[in-house]
Amino acid sequence: MNYVSPNPSGPSSSGPNPKPGLLPSDGCQDQVLLNDWHVVAFSEEVIYGKLHPVTLLERDLVAWRDLEGQIHVWEDLCIHRGARLSKGFIQDNKVVCPYHGWNYDGSAKCVLMPAAPQETPLKKARAIPHHAQDKYGFIWACIGTPARAIPEFAEWDDPSYQKVTCGPYPFRSGYRAVENFVDPTHFPFVHAGVNGVFSDPDPIAPYEVHESEEGLSSTEVRVTQPYGDPRGVPVISYYSYKLMRPLVAYLKKRLVISDPAREAEGNPNDRFCTYLTAQPVDEVTSIVRIVCGTNFSPQPSDADVRRRQDLVYAQDGAIVDTQRPERIPVDLRYELHHRSDLIGQKYRSWLKNMGVTYGTFGNL
Ligand code: FES
Ligand SMILES: [Fe+2]
Repeated sequence: MNYVSPNPSGPSSSGPNPKPGLLPSDGCQDQVLLNDWHVVAFSEEVIYGKLHPVTLLERDLVAWRDLEGQIHVWEDLCIHRGARLSKGFIQDNKVVCPYHGWNYDGSAKCVLMPAAPQETPLKKARAIPHHAQDKYGFIWACIGTPARAIPEFAEWDDPSYQKVTCGPYPFRSGYRAVENFVDPTHFPFVHAGVNGVFSDPDPIAPYEVHESEEGLSSTEVRVTQPYGDPRGVPVISYYSYKLMRPLVAYLKKRLVISDPAREAEGNPNDRFCTYLTAQPVDEVTSIVRIVCGTNFSPQPSDADVRRRQDLVYAQDGAIVDTQRPERIPVDLRYELHHRSDLIGQKYRSWLKNMGVTYGTFGNL
């Protein structure tokens, strides 16, 4: 990525990202994604005293947490001579640039230039902050202007659900990863013996997908799962899916224990849910992070939940990362769509109608 010197008269370009120091033609130009919230880290990774470099939509950013617990996500760039702030350090609640030691406080203002300690730094001596939030166990950033709120995860605030963060899971296309997440027909093949039965694949009964302001949601899809939840007990699962943003999705499954000998372990209210996010590093590189929620009794250990998710997402990645073209075709004329792929079809059309071009194919 190229950076230019700050323009003293302010941004003169009419590009979509007129932040000082950046060429407007750099990186992602897709307004839908620029103005959306994206996960860039787990909350627990970003702790006071540590600078956490991340890449979002090809932009190098640095996340850090101040002494008050507030999260900051800035361009990973010092406005003085363009050094990477993430190579510096935190001292007295300020980010110190590794090159000439300029100190930036939580408001992104330079408050000390060690070469002229008596001088008050110029007003324009500032780091370049972005919108940041700490929510649902994740650090979120928006490098444009947030067009909507972070999608809801109701179980996060429901104490009857145990929440476990899992990942990060590397994927190529974030959209292909999201589409795979809402695809129950791959279970018998990609997750044989876990989420499906290889020798006896479930026929998928017709289901519906509805679109609203909140995105897409499906009616229940029934599947047979030998190891369908972290208890390791065979279940019939009824999946309901939601696609809330291009790279944020959710599933909830209703679980019915299918082994009569173990039926007593179940409860009609047993649910397993997953809130999934994919960080678009670039058009065909992404990082999936999830939170799983379970309300079983007894609750599985965090390690049991993670072990199962690590297995399933590794199985997914091994196939999903072979899909070509890597940029997902959003025009339905490309690739073949069957009735049982309804939610995937709807996802692609939804992306197309939303005008998502970054990382997609056929939406020009
Ligand atoms: S480049 Fe950061 S202080 Fe000089
Ligand atoms: Fe899968």
